Amino acid sequence: MTTFRGVDHVGIGVAEMDAAVSFYGRVGFEEVLFDWTGDLPGPDRRARVVMLGSGGATPVGPGRLKLVQVLDGDGPPPAPAGGGWGELGICEICLHARGVPEVHRALVAAGARSLMEPLDGAVQPNDVSLDIAYVADPWGGKVELIEWTGLWRSLPGPPRAEGVNHVAFGVADMARTRAFYEQLGFDELLFESTEFFEAMAPWYPGEPPGQHMIMLLAPQGAGIEPVVLDPPGPDLRGEWGHIGPFEFAIGVGNLERGLARLRELGVETSEPVTIDVGSGEWRYAYFRDPDELFVSLVESRY
Ligand SMILES: [Fe+2]
Repeated sequence: MTTFRGVDHVGIGVAEMDAAVSFYGRVGFEEVLFDWTGDLPGPDRRARVVMLGSGGATPVGPGRLKLVQVLDGDGPPPAPAGGGWGELGICEICLHARGVPEVHRALVAAGARSLMEPLDGAVQPNDVSLDIAYVADPWGGKVELIEWTGLWRSLPGPPRAEGVNHVAFGVADMARTRAFYEQLGFDELLFESTEFFEAMAPWYPGEPPGQHMIMLLAPQGAGIEPVVLDPPGPDLRGEWGHIGPFEFAIGVGNLERGLARLRELGVETSEPVTIDVGSGEWRYAYFRDPDELFVSLVESRY
């Protein structure tokens, strides 16, 4: 399956673009691929959009970040409140890192709040070892740091964050989501867990729910981590562009080919959009996934 190339980027809604560009620049996303302001077809919002690449991106941390500041209406919609992690909606970005404890410390020094101190473990069924930690960015968005020590030894050099490893999101039906995204190239199961991750217990406002999570990888690009909670908790999809992680995009080499494939699969799509961002063209189209999350295809020529 070469039509789809894994997760290209995750979209994060921000209220103060310059501060967000500065913060994420300190996490390695110092490469501004474009900085564009205008009316966006698709979501039909006026917004400033900054696409950031990571100079430290690797095959396990290949994903980019797209910062979005909604400029029309009442401005950036607030982050949906009342959840912990894994409710319906996008709930985290995860960066691959070399040296999770050191990167965690550096992020806290840069203004992030620790949500989970560094710890190590292994995931099943392949017993892949990892180091993990979490912070909240200065606007409350959850940022996971992971080093898949059992999968990939990072390139030599000092501790650093790489690009996006995966995006996590809550869904209603795991089997349905897995079948849907397998058709879009995410056909490698890295892990599956039905045990509650105790280190997340403090995040939930009440009694923590049961958790079922899997991670699916495509041969290229970043991965996806769908989560089902039991009981499901509130709907945290929110409005397009809300503060915090709110959407993700799957990379394609050719947008028309990607859209044709989605239509063959019976997936509803929007019309393709082409935007001149100065350095080149940003091309995208949204599609309807089983949970009606904000998801799109992107062809990057910038
Ligand atoms: Fe994760």
